[in-house]
Amino acid sequence: MSAFVEATPLEKFAPTALPKAGACVVVIFGATGDLTKRKLIPALYDLACADCTSKDFEVLGIGRTKMTSEDFRASLHESTAKSKDAHDFKEEVWKQFAARIHYMVGDASDPAFFRDLAAKLEQMRQSGSSANHLFYASIPSSLASPIVEGLGAAGLARNHQGWSRIVLEKPFGRDLRSAKELNQMVSKVFAEEDIYRIDHYLGKETVQNILVFRFGNSMFEPVWNRNYVEYVEITAAETLGVENRAAFYEETGALRDMVANHLLQLLTLTAMEPPVAFDAEAVREQKVQVLRSIRPMTPEDVAARTMRGQYGPGMIDGRPVPGYRQEPGVNPQSNTETFAAAKFYVNNWRWEGVPFYARAGKRLGRPLTQVAVHFKRTPQALFARTPAELIEPNVVIMRIQPNEAISISFAAKTPGSRMQARTVQMEFSYQKAFGANAPVAYETLLLDAMRGDATLFTRRDEVEAEWQIITPIEEAWAQHPPSAFPNYAAGSDGPAPAEKLLASPHHWCAIAAHPKQPL
Ligand code: BG6
Repeated sequence: MSAFVEATPLEKFAPTALPKAGACVVVIFGATGDLTKRKLIPALYDLACADCTSKDFEVLGIGRTKMTSEDFRASLHESTAKSKDAHDFKEEVWKQFAARIHYMVGDASDPAFFRDLAAKLEQMRQSGSSANHLFYASIPSSLASPIVEGLGAAGLARNHQGWSRIVLEKPFGRDLRSAKELNQMVSKVFAEEDIYRIDHYLGKETVQNILVFRFGNSMFEPVWNRNYVEYVEITAAETLGVENRAAFYEETGALRDMVANHLLQLLTLTAMEPPVAFDAEAVREQKVQVLRSIRPMTPEDVAARTMRGQYGPGMIDGRPVPGYRQEPGVNPQSNTETFAAAKFYVNNWRWEGVPFYARAGKRLGRPLTQVAVHFKRTPQALFARTPAELIEPNVVIMRIQPNEAISISFAAKTPGSRMQARTVQMEFSYQKAFGANAPVAYETLLLDAMRGDATLFTRRDEVEAEWQIITPIEEAWAQHPPSAFPNYAAGSDGPAPAEKLLASPHHWCAIAAHPKQPL
């Protein structure tokens, strides 16, 4: 018998086992909120299933709603079972996992509460719980100040028995000033290496793969610059509307919610220089350099290089949906943007003159998040008899979601006696190549935070550099309220003027289903 047994494709490519975190108590503020239900508990459940958490791992949820730990577990059971993130829900496993979940009634805006919390954690420790604490502020971080101050005053931030870390949700502040104030306040209480500013896009496998694609291969990097790249297009389109988050969204809008963080992160990973190592400091340093190379816009730039929109009624997946102003909890005269687009320039040696177009919107024609790098045309039209629309310049598309993939388009000769060419696609699909389900973003990030790896979290100067870019846009927009909202129908490609941001021959890829759409 041969000693060599051919592995099946799935065995060959099954994701490498996730590392294991040591014992800790994850303390969740905002435990009765949507994020805890939809993302955090399902992710922790999956980590427990994958044997990534220690047997001494526990969760302590904090909320104002009066209920027992038993009620809390019951409230999480259904949402976890239903969650698309929990790949495989098993009642037996849930029971074991749920036994480690506790609940404490408390008002985190009351400084006195933190003495009770410290007493509770100490009491848990004396009964055998871990002394390591991961505090998760599952609320917009602009509301996090009382929590951070309370933890500091109760001596929970500098923990002598174990470690203490804090995870802060995005958006981190509302503008440059508030982000700086928040950073200052948090850093008085926690050491920078214990502050985890989360941007869940960085936990996505396909987002991390941008770095592997660029720096794990030698053939793309030599052409990844202004000599070969014509423009870069970053899209994050959702079919979802504002859902049940009207209060949050009315205050936030698409620019702060998506562009200020997720889209700028995609841009930095696409544009950054190779880091000297794959560690937190080296990677984040290069990302900050990119953000610093984006010159903040003047009011004139904002008028010429940005665009906003708000959805009106329309059709999504064949069913009618209301406009933003008709959504429950939204002001019927609201001027909050649900679509934002901007043209950025990265003013450095590699990218000078190359436009980076970014757009994000809710209630668009289909869900689509991707980075498309459009290369320049060939210098000579050798196949001049080929109809122009059949041969397009090369495009590398890194599809973040759905149907995660990388595709490269290039010219190929059409069969037949005539020398004609047309554009074809070469595609790598994650699902086809790797089969197995990859961990979802929150699993990766929670595990990293428990293990003390901050590579995929945003550094202090990084969030400030993001706001440095976004705040002038917010300010200029505030000076000139939009006059024509709503300006796009739900289910469309967004507002028509978004096309004007791009000078011909640049164009956005179609969002609503389109027969010519490559991916
Ligand atoms: C969140 C935004 O950060 O990202 C939401 O607050 C948005 O408005 C979501 O829907 C999109 O995330 P994903 O992972 O579905 O692309």
